[in-house]
Amino acid sequence: MELIRAPGDLRAAADGHRVAGETVGLVPTMGALHEGHAALIDLMRRERDVVVVSIFVNPLQFATGEDCERYPREEEGDLAICERRGVDIVWAPSPEQMFPLGVTLASPDPGPVGARFEGVARPGHFAGVLKAVHRLFEVTGPCAAAFGEKDAQQVYLVREMVKYLDLPVDVVACPTVREVDGLACSSRNAYLAPAERAQAGCLFLGLSEAAACARGGERDARRLVATIAREVGATASARLDYAAVVDDATFEAVDTLAHGRSARAIVAAHFPSARLIDNLSLPEPPSDR
Ligand code: PAJ
Repeated sequence: MELIRAPGDLRAAADGHRVAGETVGLVPTMGALHEGHAALIDLMRRERDVVVVSIFVNPLQFATGEDCERYPREEEGDLAICERRGVDIVWAPSPEQMFPLGVTLASPDPGPVGARFEGVARPGHFAGVLKAVHRLFEVTGPCAAAFGEKDAQQVYLVREMVKYLDLPVDVVACPTVREVDGLACSSRNAYLAPAERAQAGCLFLGLSEAAACARGGERDARRLVATIAREVGATASARLDYAAVVDDATFEAVDTLAHGRSARAIVAAHFPSARLIDNLSLPEPPSDR
C-alpha cells in the first residue's frame, strides 16, 4: 500500500493505472475509519482494480462552533485498517495541499437542497463538502466514488454536482452499516457518554417503526414523522432536531407516499455530547389500481 500526500503524485499514480487499463475506485473520508468506511472500501475493492482512500478532515464543512478541532485524527490506525482491507493507495493531503492558498478552486453551489435539513443546522456545510469532493474528483480523474447512504443528503448533492458538471465519476451509494442496536456507525459515536450511547438506537428504532407503518399501509407523511418524533421524544438524552419524509428524486419533503416514487425517512437528533443523523428508505405503497 502506498501513502501519497501531494495531489500531483496522486494524479500521476491514478493516470498510470488508467493508462495500464485499470479502473480506479475512490473512497473519500475524513479518517477515524470504522465499519461504515470499511464497507465502502470493500465495495470499491469488488468493483474496481485500484482502490484509493482519501483521508482529509475538511475544515470547510464544519460550521462555526462545530467539532473540527476535536474531530478524531487517527492516521496510524486508519493506515492499518486500509492495509488490512487491501487498499492500494491512501491519499492524505495536508490542508495546504488540498486547498492551496491563492488558487481559486471550483466552489459548486449546493443550491436549495443544500439549505434544507442538514443545511439548516449546519450553514455552509454542503458548500464545504462539495468544494472538497470536487477537488478530490478533479485530482483523482475518471473513477468510481463510493459514498454512504447514511449521509443521504450528501449523496444526493454529490450526484447532482456530478450530473450538472458532467464529471467523469460514477457515484456508487453503499447501504448504511449499523451497530447491533441499529445505531449507524459514525466517527461521532465515540463522543457519546455510555448512557447516551445506550439510548442512541432510538433514531433507528423511530425510522424502523415509520417503515413498518408504511408497510402496513400508512401513506400520510405527517403520521410517519410523528412516529419518529415520538420514539426520539421518549428518549431521555435525545432532543429531536428534525424528522421528515423526502422524495429520493428531489430530496424535498413530501406529504404522502406515492406509488412509483421512492421516499426516505430522515432524522437528526441532539444528544448532550453529539448530534446524530440517520435515514431509512420507506416501502413504496402499492398502486391504487
Ligand atoms: P466521513 O464522515 O468520514 O464519511 C466518509 C464516507 O463514509 C461518507 O460517504 C459516509 O456517508 C460514509 N459512511 C459514514 N458512516 C457510514 C455508515 N455507517 N455506513 C455506510 N457508510 C458510512 O462524509 C464525509 O466523511 C465527508 O463529508 C467527505 C465526503 C469525505 C467530504 O469531506
